[in-house]
Amino acid sequence: MQAYVLAVSLLLMTVVAGAFWWAVRHSTWVVRHGADVQLHSSGHVESYRTGLFWALVVLGVAVAVATLRPWPYDASASEDSVIVTAMGGQWSWEIAPQQVPVGRPIVFKVTSSDVNHGFGVYEPDGTMLFQTQAMPGYVNQVRYTFTKPGKYRVLCMEYCGLVHHDMVEEIEVR
Ligand code: CUA
Repeated sequence: MQAYVLAVSLLLMTVVAGAFWWAVRHSTWVVRHGADVQLHSSGHVESYRTGLFWALVVLGVAVAVATLRPWPYDASASEDSVIVTAMGGQWSWEIAPQQVPVGRPIVFKVTSSDVNHGFGVYEPDGTMLFQTQAMPGYVNQVRYTFTKPGKYRVLCMEYCGLVHHDMVEEIEVR
């Protein structure tokens, strides 16, 4: 499924890049043959555009790499990772084990026994760390390495009925 999504994403990105490329070629034609002939004759406009284009490409790649590298949704389990299963149900969580070690990658396998829930993990001070959907019939994986010991809270992040607000559980990191 992941490979399929990647292939579709790459295909669509190629189509979008092709459209941009066509627009760049077309606008160059307008500069050459349209009202900007005088400006273009110096060659400054075109070299400025080319420079701007490649600067934006480099900036885009840099921003994408920098922001996607710490992406917390890498679900691949390594040898030293700890598996935690989490099952949501109206209106409580079944999490096992509830005590996990600090500094080791934890792979959360999240699912639901009834309706959609949201599996959100919060720091002791209430800052949200990561979340994924708890869906019936699917197991969503999210990997996270806790760097500080403490009592972390799991809150349901999707309205799932009358007692949604009470779907609170605890994970102890030590
Ligand atoms: Cu479960 Cu909201």
